Amino acid sequence: MGYSEIYKASLSDPEGFWREAAQAIDWDRAPTRALSHDGAGHYEWYADAMVNGCYNAVDRHVAAGHGDRTAIIHDSPITGTQSKLSYAELQTRVASLAGALVAQGITKGDRVIIYMPMVPEALEAMLACARIGAVHSVVFGGFAANELAVRINDCTPKAILAASCGLEPGRVVAYKPLLDAAIEMAAHKPDVCLILQRAQLEADLIPGRDHDWHAAQDGVAPAECVPVEGMHPAYILYTSGTTGAPKGVVRATAGHLVALNWTMKNIYDVDPGDVFWAASDVGWVVGHSYICYGPLVHGNTTIVFEGKPVGTPDAGTFWRVIAEHNVRSFFTAPTAIRAVKREDPKGEEIAKYDLSCLRALYLAGERADPDTIEWAQKVLGVPVYDHWWQTETGWTIAGNPAGLEALPVKIGSPTVAMPGYDVQILDEAGHPQKPGELGAIAIKLPLPPGTLPTLWNADDRFRKSYLTTFPGYYETGDAGMIDADGYLYIMARTDDVINVAGHRLSTGAMEEVLAGHPDVAECAVVGVSDALKGQAPVGFVCLTKGVNRPHDDITAECVKLVRDKIGPVAAFKLALVVDRLPKTRSGKILRATMVKIADGEDFKLPATIDDPAILDEIRDALQAIGYARA
Ligand code: COA
Ligand code: AMP
Repeated sequence: MGYSEIYKASLSDPEGFWREAAQAIDWDRAPTRALSHDGAGHYEWYADAMVNGCYNAVDRHVAAGHGDRTAIIHDSPITGTQSKLSYAELQTRVASLAGALVAQGITKGDRVIIYMPMVPEALEAMLACARIGAVHSVVFGGFAANELAVRINDCTPKAILAASCGLEPGRVVAYKPLLDAAIEMAAHKPDVCLILQRAQLEADLIPGRDHDWHAAQDGVAPAECVPVEGMHPAYILYTSGTTGAPKGVVRATAGHLVALNWTMKNIYDVDPGDVFWAASDVGWVVGHSYICYGPLVHGNTTIVFEGKPVGTPDAGTFWRVIAEHNVRSFFTAPTAIRAVKREDPKGEEIAKYDLSCLRALYLAGERADPDTIEWAQKVLGVPVYDHWWQTETGWTIAGNPAGLEALPVKIGSPTVAMPGYDVQILDEAGHPQKPGELGAIAIKLPLPPGTLPTLWNADDRFRKSYLTTFPGYYETGDAGMIDADGYLYIMARTDDVINVAGHRLSTGAMEEVLAGHPDVAECAVVGVSDALKGQAPVGFVCLTKGVNRPHDDITAECVKLVRDKIGPVAAFKLALVVDRLPKTRSGKILRATMVKIADGEDFKLPATIDDPAILDEIRDALQAIGYARA
């Protein structure tokens, strides 16, 4: 069967389709049904099954005789080191770490925060939690203490697993002081922290609370896999919404195992034993699904890469890793390819390596601009597949099912809806749009397995954010269209979320920080086009009456404040003082118009604008710093 038949079957008979896909998973108790309802308005997948995520990612491969196969390759150009772990070694290490967690009183359902850089121990930490049914929540290392504290308060972890430091080019990021500050700030306190000491910067341990990662494992019994219910949360992953409070996306265990396993062959076209590489970070959903769980559940070798596309040491790093480790399918964000293209426009670094192992490049995380796709196609000589998904879904909503049937690539489109996703374009009233017409992208319920059942501790917010605008549908927050061939095009977000270097950020969260500056009366943050990062945040601040300090001082303080409160990942480098913000007569800030002015695009004067002259002031302020040029 080709894509079209399979897709139709997945929508007409979701039960049959996902029961069949579930056969690839090792169950402690097989599900009697795939899809059901919980009686409180949620769809559930494999609710009556019992399963263990770690068993499926690790132990079952050892049991099947593949213990010698490489599970994880750590390639760290930033430290100049490489190492490999076989599935058997990974099993021993994960069982031991899980044993240490059990010895510290962590049991099924307890939350564990993981705050770690790109080292194999980060995956071991995730898998150790999965082994004992603890619910992990990985926090990206580029977030500041305050963001970590928000997550500690929300998911109330019993334990935190962290490394002493992370490594950014030219800078050692001391994680432990950030962790200590976050715990100090948070109302909830973890019982215990396990700290992985890295040679680049060892951390002081707080007696009683902190334990050395390895010492904590001394003398403890390795932990066995604990079967959990199909809907038991595997993890919580916080992502940006419109406000400063991040959304805790919950991932149910069984669905994510089944769905991720299905994608490895059908989308990424790898067979067990093949090397698969997603150059992302464990702190993002790509890291959860495609550095850790997906490839391991499917029996692939995964690469944990501690480096950057450029500068560690050069723009050939990606190609070296692919050639050296025999990577078959490679997944990264368009921004990373743009960074490489900028340094090596002719692709001369590529010629230094034998990339005959590489079958395809997969791009996601932000819009893949045609220039980047065409450049990559040309210099790599392999298909380049854009695919579209979100933290909420955990796997591809629209992509090219290359392992099932490679469909023709249309540049600008992430291709077609994947099985289980009934993607539709709706107008404001919720009516389906015709092919080629723009609208909100929504997915008819139920969503397939592996997608979010709810938000942690926030079911009302879940319903309001995703299920209310279009009853019977999941609202993706993206707008776009579907063409006559069923190809989807993603045009823009419908909310205040922006995408900076493939990182999803909330302008609302940045505005909350700026509003906290004592001299700021009012502010707006918008995402303007950026040639490297896709979008970059720019803040506009109006000062409190009577403030007459130098504007440069105030804007520098604003930049520092966002870095301190949200973190370097916000990449907030530009703030401007303006007299007034453009608004509608009802007081809504015209952010979309500000973006168009900054990008030098034509725009229609909003009919409801209060005072059009303010737009000229905004344009002048932007032109003074090099933006807003036609
Ligand atoms: N820990 C601490 N700080 C971090 C960090 C981490 N894990 N990751 C990033 N940062 C810091 C960076 O050092 C940088 O700090 P600076 O302002 O002091 O320079 C800041 O956060 C912004 O980082 P980033 O957006 O990564 O920009 P960059 O200029 O360092 O690199 C790219 C630009 C394009 C090379 C880089 O963004 C990249 O590789 N992107 C790929 C994105 C990706 O994998 N996305 C995941 C979704 S698939
Ligand atoms: P995240 O949850 O961080 O993965 O971000 C998800 C959002 O990133 C989506 O809702 C889109 O706005 C954007 N996005 C991800 N992949 C793509 C893509 N292939 N094309 C366009 N936008 C994308």
